Amino acid sequence: HELELKLEMLEKGGYDHFMLKEIYEQPRSIKDSMRGRIYPNEGKLQLSGLKQYEEKFKNADRIIIVACGTSWHAGLVGEYLIEEFARVPVEVEYASEFRYRNPIISEKDIVIAISQSGETADTMAAIELAKERGATIFGICNVVGSSIPRLTHAGVYTHAGPEIGVASTKAFTAQVTVLTLIAFYVAQIKGTVTTGKLVELLTELESIPTLVEKALKANDLIVKIAEELKDSRNCLFLGRGSGFPVALEGALKLKEISYIHAEGYPAAEMKHGPIALIDAEMPVIVIATKNSSYEKVISNIQEVKARKGIVIAIVTEGDTDVKNMADYTIEIPHADEAFLPLIATIPLQLLSYHIAVMRGCNVDQPRNLAKSVTVE
Ligand code: G6P
Repeated sequence: HELELKLEMLEKGGYDHFMLKEIYEQPRSIKDSMRGRIYPNEGKLQLSGLKQYEEKFKNADRIIIVACGTSWHAGLVGEYLIEEFARVPVEVEYASEFRYRNPIISEKDIVIAISQSGETADTMAAIELAKERGATIFGICNVVGSSIPRLTHAGVYTHAGPEIGVASTKAFTAQVTVLTLIAFYVAQIKGTVTTGKLVELLTELESIPTLVEKALKANDLIVKIAEELKDSRNCLFLGRGSGFPVALEGALKLKEISYIHAEGYPAAEMKHGPIALIDAEMPVIVIATKNSSYEKVISNIQEVKARKGIVIAIVTEGDTDVKNMADYTIEIPHADEAFLPLIATIPLQLLSYHIAVMRGCNVDQPRNLAKSVTVE
């Protein structure tokens, strides 16, 4: 037994939990997921899995993304990126809904299935259905040789390495990295983005692991904020644009491992429901970085403060406006809106981790959840 414990300690690389180890691995796992695939100086990308299907991607009427859980959130980021850069309409579907909905699919559609494990039953069934109807199926998986990569026509692996914690962290950012590559790649072949712009974007993408490392430095501050939030019964997460899926993912992480009820919302939808819940007991975590919707998010923060809600804002380094309004601010380095999810997700992962630890929860194996759901 003692040996087993020692072995486990070793596997955790000195961290208390796999989840924390995996959070800290992200600078490396993001880098590994783009290694050999981007050429910033030339403004070029190379994705061998996509090469053979270049014409399909060029002529695709639309892209349908199917996934479950955290992978579905990565899909929402993918929708934002692919539409923005490659100008192809994207729909993101829960695999479990898609498979039972008699969906309209044609041979001109591309279905992208996202799955860390490559074994999720609903995602596999969605793939089989789309395949029967003639779509080209593309996979984004983390586990090499798992079932989904064998069912798909082609794909791109994320290189996050084994993820042990049930709550997905580094697999999510690796999926988002690969979706960013796909969006830029399709933009490259369709010519929807100039080479000059791609040079700029890829140069910034290459620096993301360093920015993620900087974001991780907020850990001590996040521990203090976690102390303040740990006894909350509810939590609201708000974001706009690519910050919206980040809010959803932040809420999912918190509920999965700390069992605090949490909801993610597009910030502007707050007034259509969640605002009714806001009182002095309600922490509201807001993605308020200096991006296109900055001013609008500021007015959302004012609405929360007017109702005495507790505001925890994720802000861009050096921000002062939000700092004056929010109860707590967590700074992250500035990045183009396209890369915001890769950085803004980091403090939310740490926040839910510390809250869960303080509440005495089993962080790596939360109750009722499984790492991969191979049954319906
Ligand atoms: C389970 C896991 C989640 C994961 C989801 C989809 O619910 O607990 O962390 O996001 O399945 O899994 P997949 O392996 O398909 O990404």
